[in-house]
Amino acid sequence: MASSSSSSSFFFVLLFGGGLFLFSFDAEAARVPALYVFGDSTADVGNNNYLEGSHAKANFPHNGVDFPLSRPTGRFSNGYNGVDFLAIHMGFRRSPPPFLSIGNKISHQTMRGTKGANFASGGSGILDSTGSTITTRKQIQYFATIRSNITMQVSTEKATLLISKSIFLISAGGNDIFAFFTQNKAPNESQVKQFIDTLVSAYTDHLKELYNLGARKFSIIDVPPLGCCPYPRSLNPMGSCLDILNELALRFNSAVSVLLHDLSSKMQGMKYSIGSSYNVVSNIIKNPSALGYKEVKTACCGSGKFNGQSGCMPNATYCSDRHRYLYWDMLHPTHATSKYAGVAIYEGSLSFAAPINLRQLVEDNS
Ligand SMILES: *[C@@H]1O[C@H](CO)[C@@H](O)[C@H](O)[C@H]1NC(C)=O
Ligand SMILES: *[C@@H]1O[C@H](CO)[C@@H](O)[C@H](O)[C@H]1NC(C)=O
Ligand SMILES: *[C@@H]1O[C@H](CO)[C@@H](O)[C@H](O)[C@H]1NC(C)=O
Repeated sequence: MASSSSSSSFFFVLLFGGGLFLFSFDAEAARVPALYVFGDSTADVGNNNYLEGSHAKANFPHNGVDFPLSRPTGRFSNGYNGVDFLAIHMGFRRSPPPFLSIGNKISHQTMRGTKGANFASGGSGILDSTGSTITTRKQIQYFATIRSNITMQVSTEKATLLISKSIFLISAGGNDIFAFFTQNKAPNESQVKQFIDTLVSAYTDHLKELYNLGARKFSIIDVPPLGCCPYPRSLNPMGSCLDILNELALRFNSAVSVLLHDLSSKMQGMKYSIGSSYNVVSNIIKNPSALGYKEVKTACCGSGKFNGQSGCMPNATYCSDRHRYLYWDMLHPTHATSKYAGVAIYEGSLSFAAPINLRQLVEDNS
């Protein structure tokens, strides 16, 4: 997700040597050879820092206040995001680096994507028409170039094996829903159906493209209850969640669940786990104190109603007890929430990860 500050629409961009040998022992002791990440600001770890003129950035304070060395990295979080925690569960240090930094840094050049790369870009969507940053389609094209580089570093055979055992994580869809909502605040059933069909059809193309490039293990993160984020709440005179956004998220999520089931029955060797960020966030909203939260409506950092009317800019105020807030900014979760989501999606029950959890996907060697 992300926000596009210049226009009136808001997105998840914000909105929303070593490594040469496939089987070499890695200090990180990762359980899969590599992690490749695609999506929007829920997964971005700094690609947008390299985009001139992008408004979907977070490489300034107070973002990163709880990151090692209190450093803003481009993550839309006070610390780590959900991808970092999932990567840690898989045995990596945190998310792989933003692909736009690979090639700019000597240390990353040697790696050239053999342990993974993060292509996610705040503000992007599944549809090419969503946002103005690096679309999902473009992200996959970038993966294709890294894949040819990997093939040059190891043999084609080893590259194929590496890619087939690696995790392909996608966290996208929220910005497409925000963009649709911005155009049409009260869509009727046929408009909703048409939108969801279009979105799912584009998602199908992306998944097939990745499969054709050799991906087999897919970790899909669904869309959270968007209407409960501080920004949509601030638009609601009653201050409650915006139902239409939640309904669109639910419709999209259930269509994605059917899609993955269908694709995996047709595409040989395809395996997947869908992590339900929808159920994770809903669970926190339903049981805040039991889960250690004191604030699930107002963002920690921002300004205006629910701190949801502007992003976490350097002049915004931010809370001190950040581990007790659900939301960091107008659209994104705190480090604490991402940590909880990481556990739920990695090793949680069926309501948080289905048809298998991410751990089962990682450990599946069949
Ligand atoms: C891919 O390899 C080419 C040629 O070695 C290099 O110039 C380019 O930077 C590499 N790209 C990535 C993303 O590693
Ligand atoms: C939905 O809204 C569109 C645009 O206003 C209209 O053309 C269409 O007839 C409506 N469909 C239904 C089923 O109400
Ligand atoms: C922060 O500064 C921007 C201009 O750079 C201004 O539009 C905004 O209202 C300020 N926010 C606060 C909370 O002072």
